[in-house]
Amino acid sequence: MPAYRIFAFLCCLFIGGTYGCTSCDDITDVPTGFTQLTYTESNEHLENPNRGFVMQNSGRASSFTPLTLAELNGYRQSYGMTMHWRQYILNTFVSSDVTAAFKNQIRADLDIVRQAKFTIILRFMYTDAMPANNSAPYGDATKSWMIDHIDQLTSIFTDYEDVIDVVQAGFIGVWGEWYYTTYFGDPAVYNPLTQQHWDDRAEVLEALLDSVPSSISVQVRTPRYKRTIFNTVATTQAEMEDETNKARSGHHNDCFLASSTDFGTYADKSVEYPYLKDDTKYTVMGGETCAVSTDAPLDRYKCPTAQTELSELHFSYLNQAYHPDVISSWKTDGCFDEIHRYLGYRLVIKKAILPNTLQQGGRFCVYMEFENKGYAAPFKHKTLNIMLRDTASGDLYAADLDYDLKTWLPGNTIIVDEATYIPTDFPLGTYDVLLAIKDYVNETLSDSNILLANTNGVPEKTKGLNNLKHTVTVGVAGTPGSSSCPTLDWADPQSDSVYSRVHVLS
Ligand SMILES: *[C@@H]1O[C@H](CO)[C@@H](O)[C@H](O)[C@H]1NC(C)=O
Ligand SMILES: *[C@@H]1O[C@H](CO)[C@@H](O)[C@H](O)[C@H]1NC(C)=O
Repeated sequence: MPAYRIFAFLCCLFIGGTYGCTSCDDITDVPTGFTQLTYTESNEHLENPNRGFVMQNSGRASSFTPLTLAELNGYRQSYGMTMHWRQYILNTFVSSDVTAAFKNQIRADLDIVRQAKFTIILRFMYTDAMPANNSAPYGDATKSWMIDHIDQLTSIFTDYEDVIDVVQAGFIGVWGEWYYTTYFGDPAVYNPLTQQHWDDRAEVLEALLDSVPSSISVQVRTPRYKRTIFNTVATTQAEMEDETNKARSGHHNDCFLASSTDFGTYADKSVEYPYLKDDTKYTVMGGETCAVSTDAPLDRYKCPTAQTELSELHFSYLNQAYHPDVISSWKTDGCFDEIHRYLGYRLVIKKAILPNTLQQGGRFCVYMEFENKGYAAPFKHKTLNIMLRDTASGDLYAADLDYDLKTWLPGNTIIVDEATYIPTDFPLGTYDVLLAIKDYVNETLSDSNILLANTNGVPEKTKGLNNLKHTVTVGVAGTPGSSSCPTLDWADPQSDSVYSRVHVLS
């Protein structure tokens, strides 16, 4: 990854060599031959991938209902959704192998997800009902069966890496919530759980982390689980970049705002909430509400607290269907649309400084400022590609700037200044400058591209591209143009980095 700057103070080090210089946001000198463009943020809902409200349903082994294209298309048309939450209930496989027939049913579902250009949150469990006497046995499997089943699902996780958002830890206990469990510490018998219970839970989590591709995270139900299995220190950017098991373990809260402890989600909120605020900067957070708040403050479920906590805890997705009273209060009180806009990331370009001319064999120097107005950084790998589109033929050329947008946290100005090379045989002509923010796993899925939240035709929705509203002319070598980047006053132009050559986009 090339050097780049997110924080203004780092930028200042480059500018002046000292602290206390002017902010990078205030560039006054636009180099000769360059144009400065400013952009306006839009308020519209964008059908961007890996974020937003979701619907949830289940595929039960004993009476399977497949996912249908009509259902997912309906969610997109009615609600602007691009993400779905699917639970698989392995109720007929508690003590036997998952059959090939069932695995094929899951594969058929995931083919539908791909066809609908959706992505999916997965959770596996053995039971979604409490026993009539509220006592063990609860119906979940032994550790040894669980680990076998996880192993049997590995090829599905691998083959559908591109459409899986996240896999919730699941498996253990009723609803896969790691609470009402027969073999991992029955809460009616063990309080607290024994070390063996924690070791067994850690073993199942580790098996799942090993089974799913490293680009995909797993989510645990409460902060206590993660803090006990790993440690109590929040995940760092370095851990996220190394894809450690700790960084790949995110969080889901399925009783968000339900009470002062979110119905037991927090064992000690005074410690766990600040931890979650930090940990979710670099891990995936999502979930659902489950009740109108049941203890003081009784308005906890309403818009003000909801918006504060969704933002502080970096939520990427929420179930729209549950709890209906909470969701309808957000609609009545007017924050629902805003929440739908801000769940996950919402990237806005603020400014660009782009050359007016390029030349064959020369450099293409770009400077761009972005802001993430959403609640979270993108949690799937996305790369930033600067593109040139021939205004006559429409041919597209792209260079990967090798940025990982998982570091694009809300709140800071994100500065990208880079140079790419124009090949010596690049077709002469006039080009529009565009950005493609593309899926790292599956470059062919144009609907997994991120659209910028800007007005005036910046997002080209059907193409999954962002138009920077600027035209450059490519001339032969030696004509006026950028044979090298100008000595810019805002930053070192990264002239020593190796940039990918501009190539025809496949
Ligand atoms: C609860 O019911 C199940 C079967 O329905 C039974 O096996 C179990 O012993 C019962 N548990 C208690 C504590 O009564
Ligand atoms: C990418 O998506 C295409 C089209 O949906 C699919 O055929 C292909 O298998 C996917 N590739 C990967 C690596 O997931």
